Amino acid sequence: MSDSEILLFFLASIFAVLLIFNLIKVKRNSMNLPPGNMGWPFLGETIGYLKPYSATTIGEFMEQHISRFGKIYKSNLFGEPTIVSADAGLNRFILQNEGRLFECSYPRSIGGILGKWSMLVLVGEMHRDMRIISLNFLSNARLRTHLLPEVEKHTLLVLNSWKDNSVFCAQDEAKKFTFNLMAKHIMSLDPGKPETEQLKKEYITFMKGVVSAPLNFPGTAYRKALQSRSTILKFIESKMEERVTKVRDRSENLEEHDLLGWVLKHSNLSREQILDLVLSLLFAGHETSSVAIALALYFLQGCPSAVQQLREEHTEIGKAKKQTGEMELNWDDYKKMEFTQCVIGETLRLGNVVRFLHRKAIKDIRYKGYDIPRGWKVLPVIAAVHLDPSLFDQPQDFNPWRWQYSRGSFAATASTTRSNNFMPFGGGSRLCAGSELAKLEMAVFIHHLVLKCHWELAAADHAVAIPFVDFPKGLPIRVQHHTLI
Ligand code: HEM
Repeated sequence: MSDSEILLFFLASIFAVLLIFNLIKVKRNSMNLPPGNMGWPFLGETIGYLKPYSATTIGEFMEQHISRFGKIYKSNLFGEPTIVSADAGLNRFILQNEGRLFECSYPRSIGGILGKWSMLVLVGEMHRDMRIISLNFLSNARLRTHLLPEVEKHTLLVLNSWKDNSVFCAQDEAKKFTFNLMAKHIMSLDPGKPETEQLKKEYITFMKGVVSAPLNFPGTAYRKALQSRSTILKFIESKMEERVTKVRDRSENLEEHDLLGWVLKHSNLSREQILDLVLSLLFAGHETSSVAIALALYFLQGCPSAVQQLREEHTEIGKAKKQTGEMELNWDDYKKMEFTQCVIGETLRLGNVVRFLHRKAIKDIRYKGYDIPRGWKVLPVIAAVHLDPSLFDQPQDFNPWRWQYSRGSFAATASTTRSNNFMPFGGGSRLCAGSELAKLEMAVFIHHLVLKCHWELAAADHAVAIPFVDFPKGLPIRVQHHTLI
């Protein structure tokens, strides 16, 4: 190529790039994008969006944006142009149109750490296949027969280890409970055994990386988490080998009482897929429900009348069991925990364990007169709906009674409005696969907690959204045991 040809080629390329940019600009100008602020180049408004705030609020950033631009606004977050939605209708529309108009789109760092086969990042058919496996494993039948007794056993293990007048971090105790439960149910690991404790330790490092900035340099939380990921995967792989060898050497059938056995026996997943599935179920299944339990302890210690009503409900269940001589809780007992379900609902509404979801528009979409361009990120903020005063009366108050069933057509309409706008577990074809297990865990934990213990905060602490929910001091509580039955 001669010099003049190179120059010509160079100019033509610049012209083409400018033309494309111009076309995009013209198209964008002809679109009616929601109002908003795109912030700084590349960084956009990410830093403001992720600034910690009290978990029972939507935070200053969101409040200011909603009052300036309305419940649907544009921004630039996580390095991408984004539509943020605090609008209940749009949130439902997004979740109900998964795969048709929108697609799950978590930041690449999440895929790097949870794995490319993790359910949080998969879309399409592969997501559907993995989802079927998870739903089978967490089915109502399994909840009744396998999980309920395990949940109760692990609850008692934790509560019975609490000493009178001792002070400890409730958040760590809740994590111990949900981790042990998941480790048992996924890989038949027993609590307290050295291998379980080692895995738990690795998991703590792993978790710090999931929620950290994705900076893959020596010494960063993200790099350490990637190292923990490979240690955890090696551990899971060794458990898989053990099973396969056992079957080969003793020509036994694969047992299917835990998830690992179940997928080895019933699925055609590759080794790599099984590893990511196990890892991400351990993650999805223990982090969220432990935060929910810590939140319940926190809200309840500030609401003695709710604790009193819970004690009455659970004393009645406990007394009826005593009369029949039965010890363990069964499904009928669980179904009697009606006020407890109100407490669980209110904890999830006010505490918002998962505050927003990551989606992407896969088509140009028009909603309520606004355009959402194809390729843009879309964040349905479920917390903003749960804390919206036009949908929930006095949304900042912990009021479990708002979930109580009341008669009359006005009450029925109000109750439908509440349920339609209540999405702590997401919705549509990606609705949380463990929602029923999470509620069961919370209910059984609350049952034994109120019957056995009185608890109070040992030091001031509060729930903070960073944006995942955390208690800065770990929620220190002091406990006294009592006997009610
Ligand atoms: C209070 C506790 C929990 C909360 C608030 C919660 C919340 C959520 C939310 C909001 C999603 C949807 C994510 C999205 O659409 O992008 C989700 C998905 C999921 N959750 Fe949960 N979760 C909880 C407990 C659990 C438990 C105990 C398990 C059991 C293993 C679990 C397993 C899953 C799985 C497998 C998915 C992915 C579903 C899919 O993509 O099809 N979760 N969860």
